[in-house]
Amino acid sequence: MFYLILRCVMHDDWLFLHQICVAYLSILISLSAKIMSDELILEVAKAGLLHDVGMVEIDPIQLKKPRHKQSCDERRVFELHPVKSFDILKEFSLSDEALLGILQHHESILGIGYPKGLKAHKVSYIARIIQTADEFAFIWKHSLSSESEKPVNQVFDRLRKLHFDKLDPFALAHLYYSFQKAPDFSFVKWA
Ligand SMILES: [Fe+2]
Repeated sequence: MFYLILRCVMHDDWLFLHQICVAYLSILISLSAKIMSDELILEVAKAGLLHDVGMVEIDPIQLKKPRHKQSCDERRVFELHPVKSFDILKEFSLSDEALLGILQHHESILGIGYPKGLKAHKVSYIARIIQTADEFAFIWKHSLSSESEKPVNQVFDRLRKLHFDKLDPFALAHLYYSFQKAPDFSFVKWA
């Protein structure tokens, strides 16, 4: 698996840093929720760390292109990255729960996600954790880069505004609760 992490580093800095953030945030949610064994939390961390590894098959220039500027073909290729990640990682020692979380991390409880458009209870709880962490990390990064610094609570406000009905409320609540207990991240700057 270390080789795969290196592949991500060499392919695109943002891809690597994003997955580090998602792994960290997924661990925070999992610890706060207290519904998993230590072994399963380790699987969640591994899944967060490599959930987007399928993107190594997409040109880095395409990865940086905003979604609304992608052509239909580019979007189709991009939306296959959870399947690519799953295909790459099934050869490694990840649990079935972690693999399912990776495959479903862009599904939505409303049924408007991808690649399959699964609804609510068909989306695994690890996928819901990774998805919540993923969206938070995405908004956090873009907020910080556009205005240099942004209190975490404002990132939560934006996350709720954009994705409140699409994300798992349990995972979102535990991520919020984790930050309230954590040291003040309000003025963390993106390097
Ligand atoms: Fe993804």
